[in-house]
Amino acid sequence: MDRAELNRRLAVTERIAREAGILARTWFDRRNRLRIETKGPQDLVSEADRAVEVLIRERLAAAFPGERVIGEEGGDDGAGHVAEQGPGGGGGGPVWIVDPIDGTQCFLAGIPSWCVSIGMASESGVQLGVVHDPVVGETFTGGPALGAFCNGRPIRVHEASGFGDGMVEVGVSLRRPLDETLAVLERLLRAGGIYHRSGSGALSLAYVAAGRYIGYYEDHMNTWDSCAGVALVEGAGGWCSDILAGDGLTRGARVIASGQNLAPAMRTLAEGLGAEGLGDAP
Ligand code: IPD
Ligand code: CA
Repeated sequence: MDRAELNRRLAVTERIAREAGILARTWFDRRNRLRIETKGPQDLVSEADRAVEVLIRERLAAAFPGERVIGEEGGDDGAGHVAEQGPGGGGGGPVWIVDPIDGTQCFLAGIPSWCVSIGMASESGVQLGVVHDPVVGETFTGGPALGAFCNGRPIRVHEASGFGDGMVEVGVSLRRPLDETLAVLERLLRAGGIYHRSGSGALSLAYVAAGRYIGYYEDHMNTWDSCAGVALVEGAGGWCSDILAGDGLTRGARVIASGQNLAPAMRTLAEGLGAEGLGDAP
């Protein structure tokens, strides 16, 4: 897919994310009326998440008919699609990766730390991403071959080379042993760093792209939480672990992201925890 086509798709994706953001924001303002279900420990879903994902899927199907969509709430519609294979499956058709509301717990608690996240990957990797924050009014767009932007203005990753230079966002995945997360926090703090947890991995990766955080670490994220943000970090000149290595597309992966200078130090946080998906050092 050439750059012109990627940019065309990015513009369409931005429009869809903004429309989804209007719907999500409407629900955010009357969240006390939402029906909420528990999917697992510290894992909630509401009718807002589902309605926003339905909207995004309808718009993607109209704009890109027949292309595969993986979403947090609606699952993987790959089976039966023309472009069923996608990354890691031997095919190569584009795959859309959607989180209608990332940061659901914050959303339901009334904390303005959530976003709409839509990414696209192909067999050559993550291609583009849009992370839209309708409360603050920021839309992050970009991709490895496209650059990265916040509300149309170019953004760059932080030039930090040590943990003392800023904040690292650490996501907590209850899908991995707690000891791994505790080990990472201990390593970061002992190395003079400090962590932050915003509750939205996708928005945090956009903040890494914008140089607000010097890095991001989470032991396991699903691709709907990571794809768009990884596209932004790479577009902003940063380094990310390979989230699509092996069966990462459908099973998720460890996610580490930062500017190029901090990448070697970020990688040390995961030492001994398994190297899957870490790729080559920059
Ligand atoms: C979660 C958030 C959180 C991250 C978790 C995700 P959700 O997504 O991105 O920051 O640490 O791994 O599951 O459930 O709010 O959509
Ligand atoms: Ca999510």
